[in-house]
Amino acid sequence: MSASAAVTSVQPNLTNFLAASTTTPIPITPTIAATPTIPAPAIQLAAATGKPARSGASIYSVSCASCHTYGMRGAPKLTDKAAWAPRLAQPPGTLTAHVIKGLGWMPPRGTCSACSDDDIQAAVDYMVSRLPTR
Ligand code: HEC
Repeated sequence: MSASAAVTSVQPNLTNFLAASTTTPIPITPTIAATPTIPAPAIQLAAATGKPARSGASIYSVSCASCHTYGMRGAPKLTDKAAWAPRLAQPPGTLTAHVIKGLGWMPPRGTCSACSDDDIQAAVDYMVSRLPTR
């Protein structure tokens, strides 16, 4: 059976079902009933993969915010463009390398000893992304 034949054979049933479900408040198939809430399951799926838990934003809030929110001991504050300007002028990769090694009063990995290099990179990217564009 060709793909188009499959579509034609399925289509009438689907159409009938959708027509029926608009007139019937309690649909027979829960799968179809859940269709309007597709965005919610998509978010749950992302959470299940663990990705949001290791996002730059979450690493920042857990491990970096304590110093960088208020500029503890000269830490460049999140969103403080002037404080970041000379740091951003360094060669590419320097920021992340400094966080991994530690810099001045900032301990290695900004205290996140469980963070991989990629995690640190994500946190740095997040901090840079929060800088005002003008
Ligand atoms: C204990 C406080 C503290 C924590 C926690 C901390 N930082 Fe820092 N951070 C500092 C200080 C202080 C500086 C400025 C160091 C200097 O220039 O002497 C700094 C500087 C930086 C810089 C600029 C580096 C450069 O090359 O100029 C980056 C990027 C940075 N931190 C990212 C992070 C990230 C990402 C985290 C979390 C994983 C983090 N920091 C956690 C205190 C901290």
